[in-house]
Parts: sequence; C-alpha cells; structure tokens
Amino acid sequence: MTHDAIAVIDFGGQYAHLIATKVRRQHVLAEIRQPEDPTELFRRYKGIILSGSPSLSSHGEDSAYNKAIYDLDIPILGFCFGHQEIAKHYGGTVVHGASEWGPADLQVVGDSPLFKGLSSVERVFMSHFDSVTSVGPGFEEIGFTTLGEAGASHRFAAIASDALRRYGCQFHPEVDDTVHGDEMIANFVLGICGCSPSWTMDKYVEERVAQVRAQVGDQSVFLLASGGVDSTVAARLLGMAIGPERLHLLHVDNGLMRKDESRDVLEAFRAFGLDRNLHFVDASDAFLTALAGAVEPEQKRKIIGNTFIEVFEREARSRGIERHLLGQGTIYPDTIETGGTKRADTIKTHHNRVPIIEEMLRQGRVVEPLADLYKVEVRELGEKLGIPHDLIWRHPFPGPGLGVRLLCSTGEALRSGFEAIEPAVAEVAQRYGLSALALPIKSVGVKADLRSYEHPVLISGDAPWERLVEAAGHLFKGVAGINRCIWNLGPRAPGRARPLPATVTRDRLALLREADHLVMEGLRRHGIYGDIWQCPTVLVPLEMDGAGREFVIIRPIHSERAMTATPAQLPPRLRDELRAQILALPGVSGLALDVTTKPPGTIEWE
Ligand code: XMP
Repeated sequence: MTHDAIAVIDFGGQYAHLIATKVRRQHVLAEIRQPEDPTELFRRYKGIILSGSPSLSSHGEDSAYNKAIYDLDIPILGFCFGHQEIAKHYGGTVVHGASEWGPADLQVVGDSPLFKGLSSVERVFMSHFDSVTSVGPGFEEIGFTTLGEAGASHRFAAIASDALRRYGCQFHPEVDDTVHGDEMIANFVLGICGCSPSWTMDKYVEERVAQVRAQVGDQSVFLLASGGVDSTVAARLLGMAIGPERLHLLHVDNGLMRKDESRDVLEAFRAFGLDRNLHFVDASDAFLTALAGAVEPEQKRKIIGNTFIEVFEREARSRGIERHLLGQGTIYPDTIETGGTKRADTIKTHHNRVPIIEEMLRQGRVVEPLADLYKVEVRELGEKLGIPHDLIWRHPFPGPGLGVRLLCSTGEALRSGFEAIEPAVAEVAQRYGLSALALPIKSVGVKADLRSYEHPVLISGDAPWERLVEAAGHLFKGVAGINRCIWNLGPRAPGRARPLPATVTRDRLALLREADHLVMEGLRRHGIYGDIWQCPTVLVPLEMDGAGREFVIIRPIHSERAMTATPAQLPPRLRDELRAQILALPGVSGLALDVTTKPPGTIEWE
C-alpha cells in the first residue's frame, strides 16, 4: 500500500461508510473491514476505527468480532457501540439505559489530543441505548455531556488511554450535527495515528492510470456506457490510460430511457473525443418483448437484467470484441458486503456482479478503475477530468430505468386489511383537516432494512408543507400496512380508486417519458434541479374518474447517499405549472406529490 490508511470496522448500518468518507476528506485512505477479518489484515493500517451499530448491543452477552485487534500496537478509536466495546474490553462497565437522542453539549475534560484545538464545550450528536458507566485501569473520562442548563449529565461520553492509544466517543463525530466532528477525526487520523495526508484526487488519477495501463497491457477494453456518472467517469479515465483507439464503448437503448437520453449520451461521448469506437444499439424491441405481460416488480427487474446480459453478449460477439477486457464503472459501496450495502448490492446485481461477470472477474478480465471510490469522490474525480458539471451532477437514474417507474397491475384491487386501514387513515387525516384515501395497490418500501410491499395513502386538502409531512409521519406510525403517503395535486379529492390492468408497453412508456420530461424541465426552469438529489416520476395504473386514465406521481427527494431520504418541497408556482401540463396529457387523470420519507418508503416505487 503506497498510502497511510485507516481501517473502519463495519458493525452495520450506514455509519461505517460515513466514517470512511469523513476520513478520506482528510486525504487519508480509509477502507471498510468486517468484524471477523483476520488480525493479519489489520497490520498494514495506521489506525482502526470501530463504527457504531444500529442493532448490536454492548450490554450483556459477548459481541462476536475479532478481539485480537486490541493486541495490535495500532491506535483504535470507537464511536457509540465501538466506544462501549473499548470500555468493556479494558475493564469498564456498560449498562443498558440512559439512552440519549439528538444534540448534547460535550464538556471536555483535560487536554486530550482527540480534542486538540477545540473548545471546552462542543455540540455533539447522540444516538444510543447503552451507556458506559465506568472505565478500567489506565483509562480516563475526557468528556461528559449535558443538555440545557439544568440537564442531567451523562458521564463517560468520551474516554481515553493515551498510553494504550485507545479512544472512545459515545457520540457520533461522523455526522454533521457534531459541529467539530471533522476536526476530531482529523485529530485522530493525522495526529494520534500520524497518517500523512497523501491520498488526493491528483494522486489518485496518476496511480489509477498507471494501474490500468499495467493491467490492460496491449489489450483493448469494452465498456457499457449508460450515460450515468459512474460509467462516464470510468470511460474518461480509461480513455486517458489506454487512448481512445483501444477503448470500445457500447451504449444500449433498452427502451426504458428518458426522453432523448440516448442521443444526449452519444453526443457527450463525441464531445470527449471518445467516439473512435462508439457503438450504439437500439435494443428496445428485445427488452419490450421480454417484458410483455410481466407485472411483478422483481420479475420485471430480473427480465431487464437478463436481457441486458443477452444484448451485451450478442453485441460483443457480433462486433468481434468479446475477447477484450470488460470495463465497469463499479464504485466502492457495490463491492463490499455489509448490512448497509447488501441491499445496494442486490439492486445492482444486474450490472456488475452477475455470474458471467463474476467469472470474468475471476479470470482477471474486468477493469474497474473506480472500485475504491464513493459517489461523491467519483463526482470530484469527474470534475477533475474535465467532464461538464451538468453531466457530473445529473440525478442518479436506476439501471432498469423507467421500467421501475411504470407500475403494472393485473387489475385486481388489493384491499386486504382495508377494514382497519380505511377508518384509521381517515381519523389521522381529519386531525390535519385533510381527507385520505387508501389505495388498493402496493408499492415498495423499506422497514428495518427489509423491503416491504404495502399500501400508499392519498391525502387531499390544503395544508402547509411541514404539516403534510407531519401528517404522513403520523399515518406511518399509527396505521399498520401503510408505507407511503402522496398529496393530491388534482382539483378535487377523488372518492375512489380502481386498479387498471396494465403492463409495460410502448404507449405507457411514452406517456411516462413525457411526464418525466415535463418534471425535469420544470426543476431546471426553476433553478432547483441541483438542490434535489433525485426526482422519479411514476405512472400508476389507478383510475379515479372511471375513464380508464392513469395517475402520475412526482417524487422529489433530498438525500446524501440514497440510504435515507426526505421529501423535497416544490415551489408553488412549479406545482401549478406541472399540474396544468401533466393533467393535460392524454391518458392522465390525476397527479400527486410523494411526501414520504425513506424509511418507510423507498425512493423508487418498485
Ligand atoms: P431505493 O428505491 O431503494 O433506491 O430507495 C435507492 C437508490 O438506488 C436506485 N435504484 C436502483 N439502481 N438498479 C439500479 O441501478 C436498480 O434496480 C435500482 N433500484 C433503485 C434508486 O434510483 C436510488 O437512487
């Protein structure tokens, strides 16, 4: 390893990735490691950080992980669960209780190198059930927390043994709500571990180019170029490394793309001078034929994934490039199996980890120049490589494209549990001066890290944005079987909703494409495209008017890593414009705005 590096042990959730991103911001490489990884593997790191855990408890039974790491002469820092584990390992006690949620004031005790340069009182973010109540020999309390003037204090919020170079924080320095969390992480990584901040983007480009050249030798590379950020940045980097003559790009129009997307993608690659071997195939017939009649979301995803592989193999053969190495824009979270990324892994299976590609990986025939970067770093790299800002900051678009935004149905109304759901949603909505209609279809959501298929509720009426989001929150908490809440933008509250039989067809895709185009144009016209992480537009086969016309839903969200999301507000003028434009599309009878957080609803509807 040419750079000093930190190992982040992943005890679950999203904490580990957040910590790794924050360490990398100090220009020090951070890698995710699993709790059971062998001790040998840790020797090459200059420091270890133990992440928090959403499900593990430090209290009670022994937590299973490789405790031999404590025998290494390498500094260790733990956050939350990790903090409690360090306390316990060195003879302290951890009890269940004294839980805290949200901001607290850390009263710094002494002059620990962990808090070097910080004030005597620091705003930190707490989120825990268990607490450390005493520390073992050699350890001391370097901070406790208080909340408000009369607030009870929480002892041992930060502990340390400078001699052993072991440190723990009950709070989460990796979250932005810990105001000087970055400084604390820098104090550990650069100060206590003595890492040199050599991991910069310039260095990354230099090293990666050299690595690609070494791996590829005099062979050629074949890359599927969807037009998304990752494959575009990968293409640019590969082009720099091996030159445009030996880089073959294939863009597949699967019929599930946005309006004019393939045209724009091909133009962008031409503009980069990567069109020497730019191949294009309109495979929409193959995809739509394979999808004919499919209704179930997972079945649709599988069909799309399998068709991709078939098209890819056929095209590679027919163009005589199947012997080339395969280039992929795989990014770091896709390569690691953790609680937090397992799901991401399965949703992306179709693209970069299907059996045929796994086999090529084993044979060393896959080039993945971005495999150790996070999305935000890929974007930074893209800017460095001169890719236009607009392309780099495009909203993420799922591999199965509009295929997962075009809901299908057999026409059967799904109403199980409605006797309880209907009065319950009406009662909650009434408290907010709104009316509610439970919808007899299901959409996907995520609860406790698992996918759930449950009913959406349509709420109608006028209320300030915050009240709408609050009402949605109450619905999710108070009514079982609900995972999504949408706010009616149509002129009147519909009294009933009936599913229509619907599958993936060219006509429905054309309608969705048009509605999606109007929404994207609207976001750009109002200058808010860049403030919003992603904004799916979804076509739902529900008729409200008895005329067989469908429902359109707009889902603007704010997010950082797509693991969680909050609904984004649209300016009232834009709402009015979209209402007029989308309701005027033939075949559309209703329009609603999704006001669901993730969890319980996922970003996509399927
Ligand atoms: P969800 O819907 O799970 O989405 O909240 C999280 C992020 O992943 C994208 N997504 C996908 N991307 N293939 C992909 O390449 C898929 O099957 C897929 N499903 C969801 C989604 O757009 C969001 O950015």
